[in-house]
Amino acid sequence: MLVPSDMIGAQSKLMNQLEKYQAHQVSDRNLGIRKTILDVCTVVQDMLKEVEAQEPRFISSLTELNGRYDGLRVLSPTEFEVVLYLNQMGEFNFIDDGSMPGCAVLKLSDGRKRSMSLWVEFITASGYLSARKIRCRFQTLVAQACDKSTYRDSVKMMNDASEVKIRIREKYVVQITPAFKCNGVWPRSAQHWPTMPMTYPHPQLVAQVKMEGFDLLSKESTTLQNKQSSSSMEGDAWIISFQEAENQLLIGASRKKCLSILKTIRDRHLDIQGNPVTSHVLQVLILHECEKHPGEEKWEDHSLGDRITGIILQLISCLQCRKCPHYFLPSVDLFRGKSASSLDTAAKLAWRLLRELLTNTKALESL
Ligand code: CTP
Repeated sequence: MLVPSDMIGAQSKLMNQLEKYQAHQVSDRNLGIRKTILDVCTVVQDMLKEVEAQEPRFISSLTELNGRYDGLRVLSPTEFEVVLYLNQMGEFNFIDDGSMPGCAVLKLSDGRKRSMSLWVEFITASGYLSARKIRCRFQTLVAQACDKSTYRDSVKMMNDASEVKIRIREKYVVQITPAFKCNGVWPRSAQHWPTMPMTYPHPQLVAQVKMEGFDLLSKESTTLQNKQSSSSMEGDAWIISFQEAENQLLIGASRKKCLSILKTIRDRHLDIQGNPVTSHVLQVLILHECEKHPGEEKWEDHSLGDRITGIILQLISCLQCRKCPHYFLPSVDLFRGKSASSLDTAAKLAWRLLRELLTNTKALESL
């Protein structure tokens, strides 16, 4: 058994290892991805300029803000998602009655004429703004823009029936998702959050996050896929995304650093066919872990090793149960639509990683 001084020694060794991992592997990953993003965004911005010229309602929102691209999310070093924020959602009411977990519909406000709306041709007979109809139109525009773009030799529209995806230089995949920003509102389906008065998140942070609100994305819902009672409304529904809220919740201590380290481990060891372990899954697991360890000191550098192994252990447990509940919408399973075999493979790989981290003090040097 370890005596306290050995424990302190072991802890500081681990801290040292994590510092090195951060300075080399994490930083190399980020620099490499940043370079790719600059290249990819030049092509995407040019293409979106073409879209905008053809259809002024689809104004590009892909701009750089403080050294980051607004609305861009890194899915893997070669895959990105760009959220294109549309303007003018004004005349619609947001309805999430829980009938489609993780989704909401936008209904034309009473008294508003369909024909007066900016989005007239995308409104269904019953007055819903259809996510699918908007995406179909956008897909056609992107296909045309790819042909016209300055970079037409390096950009190809991918044959994906339901999503807008382009392949750049035969190497990178960018999914472009039309969306509406909903600031200052909080969905009914996440009303229970935070579940109980907790030290984490601090009430002030909760208020800030709720003010930030959420996004409504036009993309195929994996939550609704394979559901028996598929109603025709599903294609018209919008997916609720809390990306910005989730980012804000990681502010403070080394929570953000923890995510960067886990993303690097993921890219190097858990990037497998079917992509069961997404960076979103890791972020959500961190948020669950933040509730389990609410104290700020539990997220300082000296505890980071414990947090990382704790999160990997939780990941294994989720993979084995084949369920990973969304942080704000627990009825939404982030593993929905993933094959059992990819979840099993990921569980085995994660076990191997965890065993290595727990038994070999120099494990991070080779991870
Ligand atoms: N990046 C960017 N614009 C974005 C997202 C990421 O330019 N919207 C770049 C950043 O330089 C970042 C790198 O891509 O360092 C990798 O991003 P990510 O996968 O999100 O990793 P993190 O470790 O979370 O990045 P950071 O710590 O820089 O936030």
